[in-house]
Amino acid sequence: MIYESEHPLVKHKLTLLRDHRTEPKKFRELIQELAMLLAYEATRDLRVAPKTVETPLGIAQGHELLDKIGLVPILRAGLGMVAGIWQMMPAAEVWHLGLYRDEKTLQPVSYYNKLPTTPTVQVCLVLDPMLATGGSAVAAVDVLRKWGAARIKFVGILAAPEGVEVLQSAHPDVPIYLAKIDDHLNERGYIVPGLGDAGDRQFGTG
Ligand code: PRP
Ligand code: URA
Repeated sequence: MIYESEHPLVKHKLTLLRDHRTEPKKFRELIQELAMLLAYEATRDLRVAPKTVETPLGIAQGHELLDKIGLVPILRAGLGMVAGIWQMMPAAEVWHLGLYRDEKTLQPVSYYNKLPTTPTVQVCLVLDPMLATGGSAVAAVDVLRKWGAARIKFVGILAAPEGVEVLQSAHPDVPIYLAKIDDHLNERGYIVPGLGDAGDRQFGTG
């Protein structure tokens, strides 16, 4: 399943995010806001149990969330997607995965993973703004699958058609939530028109 947002707020914020004049502070705010809007869609099917609550005027039939959620940002760029989502789901666990893309081979290189031996959450949201060749996303989902995670969803911001295809064929059961699928990858594996390097633009390291 691929979800490409048609929401006006997402479209507006994505345009500001792409703009080469957008400074790191604003860029980080936009990443947070887009992550919240996309996580809202990605969590539509979380399970709830009935729960009654006493209001000042009576008893209301309500619900409580049953699923325990893990936010799994791929370092570095995925880090910026955590804060906003975490505000909405303060009980979520955050598990970091360190992966970088080798500049020459474009293959993901793993450098950090401290997952405990058995899964502690039912639903994992893999967070990375950029799905380019798809190598990093596939490697992250591989790790979570090996860990035993039952339900995994990928929440990104921009993707290249090539990356969507690679992630879908490696993990057809992982739904992909995006603001937009762009045109193509260039010869250096960058999404075009894209937004440049999402890690550098957030952390001011470009
Ligand atoms: C970027 C991005 C993804 C990866 C996507 O990270 O945040 O993790 O590239 O590319 P792929 O789909 O071709 O694997 P990068 O390797 O630049 O690391 P950084 O976030 O630490 O800068
Ligand atoms: N990583 C980025 O940050 N941007 C791209 O366009 C591709 C990979």
